[in-house]
Amino acid sequence: MMNRTTLIDSGYDCWLGYKRIADDSVRESYLERCSRYVVIGGEGQGEGEGKGEGETGGETRGGGRGEISVLRTASKELCLALTSLLGSDVRESAVESGSLGGTIVAGVYGSSPVFEQLAHTYDFAELGDEGYIIHASEEDGDGSIYLTASSDKGVLYAVFHFIRLLQTGGTLAGQQIREVARNGLRMINHWDNMDGSVERGYAGGSIFYKDGRFIEDKSRIRDYARLLASAAINAISINNVNVHRQESKLITDEFLPDVAEVAGIFREYGIRLYLSVNYASTIEIGGLDTADPLDPVIAAWWKDAAAKIYRYIPDFGGFVVKADSEFRPGPFTYGRNHADGANMLADAIAPFGGAVIWRCFVYNCLQDWRDRKTDRARAAYDHFIPLDGEFRDNVMLQIKNGPMDFQVREPVSPLFGGLTKTNQLLELQIAQEYTGQQRHVCYLIPQWKEVYDFDTYACGEKSTVAEIASGRLFGRARGGIAAVSNVGDDLNWCGHVLAQANWYGYARLAWNPDLSAEQIASEWIRMTFGLDEELERVVLDMLLGSYNIYESYTAPLGVGWMVNPNHHYGPNVDGYEYSKWGTYHYADRQGMGVDRTVLSGTGYAGQYHAPVAERYESLDECLDEMLLFFHHVPYLHVLHSGKTIIQHIYDTHFSGAEQAAELLEKWDLLASRVDSGRFEHVRERLAHQAEHACEWRDMINTYFYRKSGIADEQGRVIY
Ligand code: GCU
Repeated sequence: MMNRTTLIDSGYDCWLGYKRIADDSVRESYLERCSRYVVIGGEGQGEGEGKGEGETGGETRGGGRGEISVLRTASKELCLALTSLLGSDVRESAVESGSLGGTIVAGVYGSSPVFEQLAHTYDFAELGDEGYIIHASEEDGDGSIYLTASSDKGVLYAVFHFIRLLQTGGTLAGQQIREVARNGLRMINHWDNMDGSVERGYAGGSIFYKDGRFIEDKSRIRDYARLLASAAINAISINNVNVHRQESKLITDEFLPDVAEVAGIFREYGIRLYLSVNYASTIEIGGLDTADPLDPVIAAWWKDAAAKIYRYIPDFGGFVVKADSEFRPGPFTYGRNHADGANMLADAIAPFGGAVIWRCFVYNCLQDWRDRKTDRARAAYDHFIPLDGEFRDNVMLQIKNGPMDFQVREPVSPLFGGLTKTNQLLELQIAQEYTGQQRHVCYLIPQWKEVYDFDTYACGEKSTVAEIASGRLFGRARGGIAAVSNVGDDLNWCGHVLAQANWYGYARLAWNPDLSAEQIASEWIRMTFGLDEELERVVLDMLLGSYNIYESYTAPLGVGWMVNPNHHYGPNVDGYEYSKWGTYHYADRQGMGVDRTVLSGTGYAGQYHAPVAERYESLDECLDEMLLFFHHVPYLHVLHSGKTIIQHIYDTHFSGAEQAAELLEKWDLLASRVDSGRFEHVRERLAHQAEHACEWRDMINTYFYRKSGIADEQGRVIY
């Protein structure tokens, strides 16, 4: 067993290291109000959380097998944090109503009269199932700090928020915080396989499986659940969307006891477990010869399967399904559509309160590169828009942020704003598949903010993706956010310590998309490295610049890809140019880019509402950074920036590589401010990034110089 210092130095504790607050005056001021705490209620064992995420109603489920309640989890965490941060043995007081002055009082507000005084200040009904209050006002109270909510889970979130206040050096006096989740479902999708590998994993192997089975020692899963809950994640799917033979058996007696054990761990942290299922399970494990969704035998098989799952896991969240996509089976085989497929599963699981999360990543991955009319970008919209309104209420369509596949720059999927009568989830990728694979630092919150804030104009102005995904814009009962995890069994979870900021930031943004990229980064830095202004300034600068830096030395102006096939790491301009995957740049000696206009191209631009469609359609109005996604233009076309396309490519690639080298120089300023474990680790990754950025720069510049024959205005070295 490693000691705590080693763990902190490795990055294992992430943002919950709870190092003793170094500034004595700050610590003492906290101690004045935080030396005692009490958690009211929740002594009972195994009382699970109630409602399904994103639902407005629901029933109480879950629990069992000696699990502790979410409220007890909150109590344990409060004790650990106070003791460690304040360096003092803070203990839980007994509940003695009337003598709580100067105590931290946590609990569900209906469970004790002590919370009643808060009813003058707050409307508890507005908090919903997961919202909470932190009240530390001196004027109308007894000097106590109240952490309260309508559910155990809400109290846990209040506790973690309160701990964050202490970690980030926040003021306690006068605090009146009221937080409500903006998204009902805040989910993490694992792409873990039971052989222990992780599809698109850049941080080691799976934390769940090894050699075809669950890992015996589940302690790391508990540590993981704690980190997720600290940022209010409330749902998780624990296996790859590509469900192969072994994983198909997760819904059988062979593995359900293990799945139930893992579900129990997550339950203690208010997180509901989901499984990715093989659409053709009836064939793969059921011994039947079809998976036709309209065949009553198939529907009955799934009903039995669902009943069995719920016998093991009474609060099971539901199924995640990748169907008819990248060689996975689906309803198309039987001449049925995706509503037929999703609804059959939804009906099987509905009686138990479960949901079906059906992915929209459906396209033809056997395209002919000679065919310039077929456009992968169009596919999801073309498949799903005709089915709008046909899905059951317990189905959510999970839509990737862009129409292609998590590129560094893509437009927002036009399904957002296109679908109006269907529950939707936004799918992001925390794993940096196309953004440096956790070897390059690339803080993705700025990219995600652009997605959330994108105005689809579906109902006029302010029809943002944030409003659609949450379900609010179209009055949907369910909605939320899911993202592909970037976590593996590396000691620091993410491969790159700075990639932890994407994991943390994803979760914070899912709770509240209005938080700024800077605010999230600064929280993360303080919680992860402690309070040090100089360190915060440098790391903030590095993180906030990193997305633009990465973009500038990789594929230009929204065209995407240009990576090595299969593993997707490193530059290869023609890596996918003559392949079947539908991801082309069409560079010739005159110009490059994909004509997706209605007028002369694939018509993709027409999938948006006005005025977005017009903006993309027009060469004059299209944003520079998206130009090559929508238009095929000559290298000498002049951008709004005043530069030609070719000069833009040269300039950004030279400056991008320079800035990547500067990231390393900046980090070096922190040698004495970061523990040597994390310092050296990050340093080694940044050195690789600086070098690899030069490889990108030279490959891209050389390729386009040779294609176009146009020299760099500044005469820099191009090969
Ligand atoms: C990408 C990724 C695959 C993944 C797929 C998906 O194509 O490279 O590994 O399976 O997305 O989202 O289903």
